[in-house]
Amino acid sequence: MPTICPDQFFHRPALASVLADQALDTSLGTSGGMFLAAPRRTGKSTFVRQDLLPEFERRGLDVIYVDLWSDKTVHPAVHIANAIRTELSREEGAIAKTLKKWANVSKLTVGAWGNGLCFDLSQLNLSSNATLADAVKAVSCASQQKLILVIDEAQHALTTDDGSNALFSLKAARDSLNTDPGMYGMQLVATGSNRDKLATLVNGREQAFYGADMVDFPTLGKDYVQWLLERARLDLDPNLSFLVFQGLGCRPEPFRQALSQTRMQLAVHPEQDGLALLQSLAKRGAQSARADFVNTVANLPPLQAALLRELAAEATKGAEVRRTGLFSAAMKDRLQTRLTAHIGSNHGILTEAPSVQNALDKLREANYLWRSQRGGYAVEDEQFVQWLAEDDLGNS
Ligand SMILES: Nc1ncnc2c1ncn2[C@@H]1O[C@H](COP(=O)(O)OP(=O)(O)OP(=O)(O)O)[C@@H](O)[C@H]1O
Ligand SMILES: [Mg+2]
Repeated sequence: MPTICPDQFFHRPALASVLADQALDTSLGTSGGMFLAAPRRTGKSTFVRQDLLPEFERRGLDVIYVDLWSDKTVHPAVHIANAIRTELSREEGAIAKTLKKWANVSKLTVGAWGNGLCFDLSQLNLSSNATLADAVKAVSCASQQKLILVIDEAQHALTTDDGSNALFSLKAARDSLNTDPGMYGMQLVATGSNRDKLATLVNGREQAFYGADMVDFPTLGKDYVQWLLERARLDLDPNLSFLVFQGLGCRPEPFRQALSQTRMQLAVHPEQDGLALLQSLAKRGAQSARADFVNTVANLPPLQAALLRELAAEATKGAEVRRTGLFSAAMKDRLQTRLTAHIGSNHGILTEAPSVQNALDKLREANYLWRSQRGGYAVEDEQFVQWLAEDDLGNS
């Protein structure tokens, strides 16, 4: 974990305490875990690293943190196994002492059924066919503490069979640590930026974390805006500034940028109205980000653009709505209507299954779409959905 100057962050200790209580509560039985869902770039990872992990540690729990997005080129299952392996090496002495019976040391296999990726753990006391679940149990046995495994951007584990198997393996570990006598227990906390994607993890009976509690993670509030204004020494009304922040989807980055531009402008023209400046600079920033994105979509091959817009339109209907299949006749009609409106009736573009599949693959490769290993698709960023919906409205 990188060391970061603590002053750089606005802390939410009360929220961390409430969420830690929730994650550890067993009054209704052990849940399948806790999932924190919030849109992209709203501060999930920062909160988890700066506030929630320290809160768990303060409570004397053993915490392992895995960020599945820290390096997209690394396989999600490898990220999980690496984090556990690091923890195992840290506990090496204790593990050697505690697990003397697991004498023959060699490899750690990812996957509940012993297939999948192998890691050489030759310096550790694990048996030659130890699974990821065994490794997790070893960590907990060695530390003699409840284990909290935090997986940031958990939905990425769902994109491949190995990632999915790693989650099943963790489920096996969790069940065993929570029910076997003499064990210290385990809880899983995960974050994700798209409810559709997380729903796949939580709602499917066959999924590793079926029944986990899904929490709408609260975005940063007025107190954050006030903190930032004070730091920036800007004397602006916090309530009205907070409205600007909300207008930017409660995302710190564009807000910080607008504040910095406001401060610069005020330094040169102190007579200007700071709040009016902030409002107009934030609006201009948002419009330009949206225009950039819409222009990029306009430059995609027409079928890809039409598909992305259709998926975005469906996403605005909410998770409860029954979706039209991507290869259904209804979808085919809708794509044809969009293509005709966009490039005229003689476009000649096929909307048969192979063309649609090809376009979906391209959109996924370019990170516009996310695809689960079971074939479900979701628009990668909810901001894309909003921008395309607004643009559709403007064009209708
Ligand atoms: N509590 C905070 N104090 C100061 N800055 C913050 C805070 N939370 C988030 N930020 C800033 O907001 C930006 C996004 O934060 P972060 O990466 O935590 O969001 P995220 O929701 O995890 O994003 P992603 O969807 O990409 O995973 C970063 O630049 C971060 O520094
Ligand atoms: Mg994050």
